[in-house]
Amino acid sequence: KSDFISVCIEDDRDLRVDCLVEPKLSRINSYEFSWSSGSKEAVINTNVSGAASEPQFRDKSYVEELEPHGYRMTLTGYTETLPHNTTYMCKISGNSATITIERDLLLPCSAVILKTSCIWVMGLLILFQQMHH
Ligand SMILES: *[C@@H]1O[C@H](CO)[C@@H](O)[C@H](O)[C@H]1NC(C)=O
Ligand SMILES: *[C@@H]1O[C@H](CO)[C@@H](O)[C@H](O)[C@H]1NC(C)=O
Repeated sequence: KSDFISVCIEDDRDLRVDCLVEPKLSRINSYEFSWSSGSKEAVINTNVSGAASEPQFRDKSYVEELEPHGYRMTLTGYTETLPHNTTYMCKISGNSATITIERDLLLPCSAVILKTSCIWVMGLLILFQQMHH
Protein backbone atom coordinates (compact mmCIF):
# COMPACT_ATOMS: atom_id res chain seq x y z
CA LYS A 1 0.00 0.00 0.00
CA SER A 2 1.13 3.49 -0.77
CA ASP A 3 0.44 6.68 1.16
CA PHE A 4 1.17 8.72 -1.93
CA ILE A 5 -1.74 7.53 -4.05
CA SER A 6 -5.30 6.71 -3.06
CA VAL A 7 -8.35 5.66 -5.02
CA CYS A 8 -11.99 5.91 -4.03
CA ILE A 9 -15.50 6.24 -5.47
CA GLU A 10 -17.36 9.53 -5.13
CA ASP A 11 -21.06 9.83 -4.26
CA ASP A 12 -21.88 10.35 -7.94
CA ARG A 13 -19.94 7.13 -8.82
CA ASP A 14 -16.99 8.99 -10.34
CA LEU A 15 -13.60 7.44 -9.71
CA ARG A 16 -11.22 9.65 -7.75
CA VAL A 17 -7.45 9.23 -7.70
CA ASP A 18 -5.45 11.42 -5.33
CA CYS A 19 -1.75 11.70 -6.00
CA LEU A 20 0.26 13.15 -3.12
CA VAL A 21 3.73 12.58 -4.51
CA GLU A 22 6.09 15.45 -3.77
CA PRO A 23 7.41 17.06 -6.91
CA LYS A 24 11.10 17.19 -7.61
CA LEU A 25 12.01 20.83 -7.21
CA SER A 26 14.43 20.80 -10.06
CA ARG A 27 11.85 19.56 -12.55
CA ILE A 28 9.08 21.27 -14.46
CA ASN A 29 5.78 20.82 -12.63
CA SER A 30 3.69 18.17 -14.41
CA TYR A 31 1.34 15.29 -13.70
CA GLU A 32 0.36 12.02 -15.31
CA PHE A 33 -2.40 9.61 -14.29
CA SER A 34 -2.57 6.16 -15.82
CA TRP A 35 -3.79 2.68 -15.08
CA SER A 36 -3.12 -0.82 -16.21
CA SER A 37 -4.84 -4.15 -16.11
CA GLY A 38 -2.97 -7.22 -17.25
CA SER A 39 -0.67 -5.99 -19.98
CA LYS A 40 -2.97 -3.16 -21.06
CA GLU A 41 -1.76 0.23 -19.90
CA ALA A 42 -3.50 3.52 -20.64
CA VAL A 43 -2.78 7.14 -19.86
CA ILE A 44 -5.93 8.80 -18.49
CA ASN A 45 -4.82 12.39 -18.06
CA THR A 46 -1.47 14.14 -18.32
CA ASN A 47 0.10 17.49 -18.94
CA VAL A 48 3.62 16.22 -19.41
CA SER A 49 4.77 18.00 -22.53
CA GLY A 50 4.88 15.63 -25.46
CA ALA A 51 2.74 12.98 -23.73
CA ALA A 52 -0.87 12.32 -24.69
CA SER A 53 -3.76 10.66 -22.94
CA GLU A 54 -6.01 8.11 -24.63
CA PRO A 55 -8.78 9.88 -26.58
CA GLN A 56 -11.60 8.01 -24.78
CA PHE A 57 -10.65 9.59 -21.44
CA ARG A 58 -10.17 13.12 -22.69
CA ASP A 59 -13.60 14.56 -21.97
CA LYS A 60 -14.24 12.09 -19.11
CA SER A 61 -11.50 13.16 -16.75
CA TYR A 62 -10.24 16.29 -15.13
CA VAL A 63 -7.40 17.16 -12.81
CA GLU A 64 -7.27 19.70 -10.01
CA GLU A 65 -4.45 20.77 -7.73
CA LEU A 66 -4.35 19.71 -4.08
CA GLU A 67 -2.78 21.66 -1.20
CA PRO A 68 0.05 21.73 -0.21
CA HIS A 69 1.08 19.60 -3.18
CA GLY A 70 -0.38 16.89 -5.36
CA TYR A 71 -3.17 16.44 -7.87
CA ARG A 72 -6.65 14.91 -7.86
CA MET A 73 -7.94 13.22 -10.99
CA THR A 74 -11.64 12.47 -11.41
CA LEU A 75 -12.85 10.02 -14.04
CA THR A 76 -16.50 9.75 -15.07
CA GLY A 77 -18.18 6.71 -16.54
CA TYR A 78 -15.73 3.88 -15.89
CA THR A 79 -16.51 2.83 -12.31
CA GLU A 80 -19.05 0.17 -13.32
CA THR A 81 -16.83 -1.44 -15.95
CA LEU A 82 -13.51 -1.70 -14.13
CA PRO A 83 -11.59 -4.93 -14.64
CA HIS A 84 -11.21 -7.21 -11.62
CA ASN A 85 -7.76 -5.87 -10.76
CA THR A 86 -6.51 -2.45 -11.68
CA THR A 87 -3.14 -0.88 -11.03
CA TYR A 88 -3.37 2.89 -10.70
CA MET A 89 -0.30 5.00 -11.31
CA CYS A 90 0.48 8.65 -10.98
CA LYS A 91 3.56 10.67 -11.66
CA ILE A 92 4.36 14.16 -10.50
CA SER A 93 7.39 15.80 -12.02
CA GLY A 94 8.95 12.40 -12.64
CA ASN A 95 8.25 10.88 -9.17
CA SER A 96 5.70 8.09 -9.30
CA ALA A 97 3.39 6.10 -7.04
CA THR A 98 1.46 2.91 -7.75
CA ILE A 99 -1.37 1.02 -6.10
CA THR A 100 -3.23 -2.14 -7.14
CA ILE A 101 -6.83 -2.45 -6.00
CA GLU A 102 -9.45 -5.05 -6.71
CA ARG A 103 -12.68 -3.61 -8.05
CA ASP A 104 -14.76 -4.99 -5.18
CA LEU A 105 -12.46 -3.44 -2.58
CA LEU A 106 -12.76 0.15 -3.76
CA LEU A 107 -14.21 2.29 -0.97
CA PRO A 108 -16.55 5.25 -1.20
CA CYS A 109 -14.58 8.47 -0.66
CA SER A 110 -16.83 9.38 2.27
CA ALA A 111 -15.86 6.11 4.03
CA VAL A 112 -12.17 6.82 3.52
CA ILE A 113 -12.53 10.12 5.37
CA LEU A 114 -14.60 8.42 8.07
CA LYS A 115 -11.94 5.76 8.61
CA THR A 116 -9.23 8.38 9.02
CA SER A 117 -11.17 10.35 11.62
CA CYS A 118 -12.07 7.10 13.38
CA ILE A 119 -8.40 6.22 13.80
CA TRP A 120 -7.84 9.77 15.04
CA VAL A 121 -10.56 9.48 17.72
CA MET A 122 -9.23 6.10 18.84
CA GLY A 123 -5.78 7.64 19.17
CA LEU A 124 -7.21 10.37 21.38
CA LEU A 125 -9.01 7.81 23.57
CA ILE A 126 -5.81 5.85 24.09
CA LEU A 127 -4.03 9.08 24.95
CA PHE A 128 -6.69 9.95 27.54
CA GLN A 129 -6.48 6.50 29.10
CA GLN A 130 -2.74 6.79 29.44
CA MET A 131 -3.04 10.24 31.01
CA HIS A 132 -5.36 8.88 33.69
CA HIS A 133 -3.05 6.07 34.74
C1 LIG B 1 0.65 21.11 -15.49
O1 LIG B 1 -0.41 21.69 -14.75
C2 LIG B 1 0.03 22.35 -13.57
C3 LIG B 1 -1.20 22.79 -12.79
O2 LIG B 1 -2.16 23.40 -13.59
C4 LIG B 1 0.92 23.53 -13.95
O3 LIG B 1 1.37 24.19 -12.80
C5 LIG B 1 2.10 22.99 -14.76
O4 LIG B 1 2.91 24.05 -15.20
C6 LIG B 1 1.62 22.18 -15.94
N1 LIG B 1 2.78 21.57 -16.58
C7 LIG B 1 2.99 21.61 -17.90
C8 LIG B 1 4.22 20.91 -18.38
O5 LIG B 1 2.21 22.15 -18.67
C1 LIG C 1 -5.00 -9.15 -8.34
O1 LIG C 1 -3.80 -8.54 -7.87
C2 LIG C 1 -3.26 -9.17 -6.74
C3 LIG C 1 -2.09 -8.34 -6.26
O2 LIG C 1 -1.27 -7.94 -7.29
C4 LIG C 1 -2.88 -10.61 -7.10
O3 LIG C 1 -2.35 -11.24 -5.97
C5 LIG C 1 -4.13 -11.33 -7.58
O4 LIG C 1 -3.78 -12.64 -7.99
C6 LIG C 1 -4.76 -10.59 -8.73
N1 LIG C 1 -6.03 -11.22 -9.09
C7 LIG C 1 -6.39 -11.42 -10.35
C8 LIG C 1 -7.71 -12.08 -10.57
O5 LIG C 1 -5.69 -11.09 -11.31
